[in-house]
Amino acid sequence: MAVTVEQLTKTFGTQHAVDEISFSAEEGQILGFLGPNGAGKSTTMKMLTGYLQPDNGKATVAGYDVVEEGLLARRQIGYLPENNPLNIEMYILEYLEWVAGFYQVDNPRKRVDEMIDLVGLGRERHKKIGQLSKGYRQRVGLAQALIHDPAVLLLDEPTSGLDPNQLIDIRQLIRELGKNKTILFSTHIMQEVAVLCDRLIIIHKGKLVANGPVEELLHQLSGSQRVVVRTEQPVDGKAFSDIKGVQRVDRKEDGRLFLLDTRGDHQISADIFRTSVSQGWTLTELHAESRGVEDVFQQLTKDQ
Ligand SMILES: Nc1ncnc2c1ncn2[C@@H]1O[C@H](COP(=O)(O)OP(=O)(O)O)[C@@H](O)[C@H]1O
Ligand SMILES: [Mg+2]
Repeated sequence: MAVTVEQLTKTFGTQHAVDEISFSAEEGQILGFLGPNGAGKSTTMKMLTGYLQPDNGKATVAGYDVVEEGLLARRQIGYLPENNPLNIEMYILEYLEWVAGFYQVDNPRKRVDEMIDLVGLGRERHKKIGQLSKGYRQRVGLAQALIHDPAVLLLDEPTSGLDPNQLIDIRQLIRELGKNKTILFSTHIMQEVAVLCDRLIIIHKGKLVANGPVEELLHQLSGSQRVVVRTEQPVDGKAFSDIKGVQRVDRKEDGRLFLLDTRGDHQISADIFRTSVSQGWTLTELHAESRGVEDVFQQLTKDQ
């Protein structure tokens, strides 16, 4: 495994920023780390990079324990922090050579040239960082993260704040890089993980709420529906819970309106109809709403 995280925990005061999170990523995978603001994404990444000390749990990168073997682990990590803090007064070449020197890479000039080609900064190479658009600054950030040829890239919201064209370019670049590296990248954009990732993790308020291959999760999510049922008279609606595929029943309007969260490929409306008839309930409305990925994300991360 390129990255393993076991029961990782970080508390600030009384707040559980990261609460017993466990997951792993295999070599060459692109792992999407999805969650709303404040979910604990950056805190998790900072623990992997050694910027923050975990309160509990453990993590390894490329086989090295991030606490016990911090230096060795860090050698295998390329990190693009959130908001990509760069010194705008520096020239691109100056900055990247400085980073190369920091990591003591062999033949830094050549390595910097290779990185500039790799991330597509060729035409901008003689500019100051401050002269670059946000999309090109992200390229500098990626070049910086790659310079010591790490096995694992940690990219903290690398696409946030980019305009639509820059977004496409940076996603394309991440996809390219993912062919040779394990990438963990965070985002709060659901669609982004669908196009980029092999595996998806969703965290909310420090807790893991979903973890699995993207296709599998998307399939589950696409099979998820909300069915709206209205009855003529108030009923208890308990029999709805026994229907196969019904996961949650929300009883509203004193028992005249029911919102059923359902999952599964089969047509559930017929079962709901049959159940209602056998209970002697007269239906005045029955329809299913397909639920978009954003919607399901909200469902997964909404407060219990
Ligand atoms: N250094 C810190 N001191 C106190 N609280 C922090 C600190 N860093 C993060 N937090 C809190 O921990 C929670 C998780 O933050 P963060 O990991 O930055 O979330 P995300 O990156 O998913 O938006 C937030 O509520 C944040 O306010
Ligand atoms: Mg963050």
